[in-house]
Amino acid sequence: MPNDNKPSHKDLKALDFSSDFIWGVSTAAYQIEGAYSEEGKGTSIWDQFVLKKGNIYAGQHGRVACDFYHRYKEDILLMKAMNIKNFRFSLSWTRILPNGTGEINSHGLEFYDRVIDFCLECGITPWVTLYHWDLPQALEEKGGWTNREVLNWFENYALVCAKHFGDRVKNWMVLNEPMVFTGAGYFLGVHAPGRKGLKNFLPAVHHATLCQAIGGKVLRKIVSEAHIGTTFSCSQITPFSKSSRNIRAAEKADALLNRLFIEPSLGLGYPTESVSILKRIEKYIQPGDIEKSVFDFDFIGIQNYTREVVKHSFTVPYLRAKIVKATERNVQTTLMDWEVYPPSIYEMISKFDAYEGVQKIIVTENGSAFEDYLENGKVVDVERTQFLQNYLKQVQRAKSDGHNIAGYFVWTFTDNFEWAEGYHPRFGLVHINFETQKRTIKSSGKWYSQFLRPTVALTDSENFSREF
Ligand code: FCB
Repeated sequence: MPNDNKPSHKDLKALDFSSDFIWGVSTAAYQIEGAYSEEGKGTSIWDQFVLKKGNIYAGQHGRVACDFYHRYKEDILLMKAMNIKNFRFSLSWTRILPNGTGEINSHGLEFYDRVIDFCLECGITPWVTLYHWDLPQALEEKGGWTNREVLNWFENYALVCAKHFGDRVKNWMVLNEPMVFTGAGYFLGVHAPGRKGLKNFLPAVHHATLCQAIGGKVLRKIVSEAHIGTTFSCSQITPFSKSSRNIRAAEKADALLNRLFIEPSLGLGYPTESVSILKRIEKYIQPGDIEKSVFDFDFIGIQNYTREVVKHSFTVPYLRAKIVKATERNVQTTLMDWEVYPPSIYEMISKFDAYEGVQKIIVTENGSAFEDYLENGKVVDVERTQFLQNYLKQVQRAKSDGHNIAGYFVWTFTDNFEWAEGYHPRFGLVHINFETQKRTIKSSGKWYSQFLRPTVALTDSENFSREF
């Protein structure tokens, strides 16, 4: 049960960062929108994946989710009231192009027009991700990310979005965490589309790498004054011990989890010297691909939640390395079984900043899932506030050490559909009762809004709820 200890935030203020530091919240279409088949939307791989028994915790799905499709005004107004000035969300490919290519669904474009225009009206800057994992099912049926045709499909989708929204949206991210959607979706089979093995993973990696750059180039060409990034999952990797085998295992995990997608975009190629199995990507590389993978991003979005401890393992095929679960290490964890380890975010900012060619870093996701209790109309989520404060202190340390870190987005605004884990892990600053769709600002949300405007005293969550 929660205790009533008020977290101290005396020592941390948004103003301590810099006046132009970007503060926001992050979301993704499938996790919040619902309205999965409304107004001409086509089926995505997530709409399909949730149908199969065993894929998602308790058979849950995102068919309604947070009903953002109908409640976007309420949520954006709440953001405004909480002093949040930047909103990262993704576009659902199948809302815009129901079959992935071909006919455009004007209702889909109009929905995002309404969201974008309402953000701007409320003084909130939209930050748009082109692809946050919801590939059109029609394209998956043609091979999805494993089919080289995806280069054309994605280029066309990016073009439609850039042309239509580029007059109002200047901040873009091409892909969300390619390592996760290729690794979990095409190697382990635990995310959509549920495919497994190297024969799926390696072509998916190569095509995602190319699309990362293709998307960037389309945006650069079409959108005037565009500020273009892409996002990477990343975690500090610690060897389980100082033995040379464990150190080597950690190097391999680092190459795979942290370096695989950024290095080709910087012209460094795939980190094959660290993970020899990646040499098999060569089979999918066509002349000119290495150059085509390069793009000069204005910013790199890093998404950090935890660190991983890695040890050597004979039994893990290809990699011979495995992650030692946080629950086996007797450390503080979140509901995702991820270790709470704030220095990881500092390490990742310095790691990515150290690449020549990385212009600037923005933390495009950071946050935590804990058990939240709605009691007497309140959610007192002390652990989440402490998590955010402790990670932010590390971001501030990185900034004062001279690293080029320009912004920070909390994952996430409201509780939502957490992929294979369903609705169980709640990551939001705002609690949702999924039966009634009632929003209640958690104490972490109140803390964040106070942090963003420290001079203004906040009304309590009841006042906010009454207002909306
Ligand atoms: C990231 C995803 C995001 C969310 C958080 C918890 O890997 O980008 O959609 O699920 O994890």
